[in-house]
Amino acid sequence: MCKVKKEYSGLPLIECYPGKLNQVFLNIISNAIYAIRKKFEEQEGGLLSITTSFDETNLLIKIADNGIGMDENTKKKLFEPFFTTKGVGEGTGLGLSIAYNTIVKHNGRIEVNSELGKGTEFILILPLIQK
Ligand SMILES: Nc1ncnc2c1ncn2[C@@H]1O[C@H](COP(=O)(O)OP(=O)(O)O)[C@@H](O)[C@H]1O
Ligand SMILES: [Mg+2]
Repeated sequence: MCKVKKEYSGLPLIECYPGKLNQVFLNIISNAIYAIRKKFEEQEGGLLSITTSFDETNLLIKIADNGIGMDENTKKKLFEPFFTTKGVGEGTGLGLSIAYNTIVKHNGRIEVNSELGKGTEFILILPLIQK
């Protein structure tokens, strides 16, 4: 169980592959929920927040959790295909590698900030228009 805080600031329409981006959001949100559950288990206090903003050129989507966070080794490898810290049957290590490739195909980028024990935030930056 966790709280979800949504702040969507008047989302603009963008040129994209919606199904592919949906998969990116799902992968990142699933990881966030996993990290929260790992830390809080059945206790309260877990928070997933999703914030959007935009300017003339880009859309920004921030997905943040206050879960277990990542160590330095994980931060270095998280986008590698098949890299996972999860047990057999729990993770494939493909979620973020797919997310990364999809965002690059959209000419965007992903930034990650994470602190072990504190939480993680993913910031997706997507151009509104594809050239
Ligand atoms: N929100 C997060 N909090 C902590 N660790 C994360 C988070 N998102 C990703 N990770 C780390 O990145 C690894 C790779 O993620 P991913 O590619 O989605 O594969 P999987 O979820 O199958 O392990 C995870 O195993 C985990 O160690
Ligand atoms: Mg995953």
